[in-house]
Amino acid sequence: MTVVEVGGGGFRPYDVVVGRGLLAGAGARIAHLARGRTVVVSDETVAALHGPALQASLTAAGVASQMIAVPPGEGSKSFAELERLMDRLLAAGLDRKDVIVALGGGVVGDLAGLAAALYMRGIDFVQVPTTLLAQVDSSVGGKTAIDTPRGKNLVGAFHQPRLVLADIAVLSTLPPVQLRSGWAEVLKHGLIGDAPFFDWLAGDGAVGATGDPAALERAVIRSVEIKSAIVGEDEKEAGRRALLNLGHTFGHAIEAELGFEEAALAHGEAVALGCCMAFRFSVRQGLCGAAEAGRVEAVVAVAGLPTRLAQAGAFSAEALLERMAGDKKAEGGGLTLILARAIGDAFTMRISDPAPVLAFLREEGAA
Ligand code: GLY
Repeated sequence: MTVVEVGGGGFRPYDVVVGRGLLAGAGARIAHLARGRTVVVSDETVAALHGPALQASLTAAGVASQMIAVPPGEGSKSFAELERLMDRLLAAGLDRKDVIVALGGGVVGDLAGLAAALYMRGIDFVQVPTTLLAQVDSSVGGKTAIDTPRGKNLVGAFHQPRLVLADIAVLSTLPPVQLRSGWAEVLKHGLIGDAPFFDWLAGDGAVGATGDPAALERAVIRSVEIKSAIVGEDEKEAGRRALLNLGHTFGHAIEAELGFEEAALAHGEAVALGCCMAFRFSVRQGLCGAAEAGRVEAVVAVAGLPTRLAQAGAFSAEALLERMAGDKKAEGGGLTLILARAIGDAFTMRISDPAPVLAFLREEGAA
């Protein structure tokens, strides 16, 4: 078991505990925070799989709990589901000393976290992420949000959890596509700022992408360390935190064009493809060597993740560019991309003239 402290910023520090079999002892850890009761917010699938173990451990630790399960899937990150959840929390009679526990993937964490930020102007919450993507990314750093018809994650709040419990054992029930999807975010962390970590992911650590628990544990720990160092420095994404969006501006545009259909392309698959495109665009701009981009592509491919636009579908270059410029990271008309000088050396670049991006998208196969 490893504990990574997230802190150093303008928020109360908290622990991310990473280990195998943490669910059984979760109640004792949560009992330190919950003076009264907890409501566990989960989705119907995860609640059935892991809810009984978590609630039994809460009971054993003397913490009363109630389960609220929302429908699985991105559709639950909506105003309608948020309203339904707030109403259920109010009906449960939670007060400001009680704690919400988010048990699930990114959707549950984002929705329950936002509900915790809003409930009586903010109550404590604990993240128990059950997907690799949530363990290495969305459960850490305090971003919470719902989607609107105008875009993803456009309504939300920064609300840091009090504790994150990342149990590697629960990843054994994940479908392979979800494991691969989370692995893309792991690779991203190496690409941003840790070349030796990326070397390990490309070599001995590669078995993590297919579920090896020891490799997964090491990958989660290092990812959380990298992310927590960035978040501690820049909680509200005024600067350095934007690096965590490597692969996301291309990736979000692709996902948006596909209608955010998980069946068409999982989020991590879009991020992996976006990382390859960001490296290739960096080469095109003369910022990065072609061999580096080639290596990124090879490692992404070995993990079973897409590297080329054609693997995701057929796209219009103008439509993708419009999506990229409309991305929430765009400011003042241009667009902001996370590019790289090398593996482990990412940086933010403002692009005011979109022509090279459009030409690049055409080279990539967009019409
Ligand atoms: N997922 C990117 C961030 O937390 O900033």
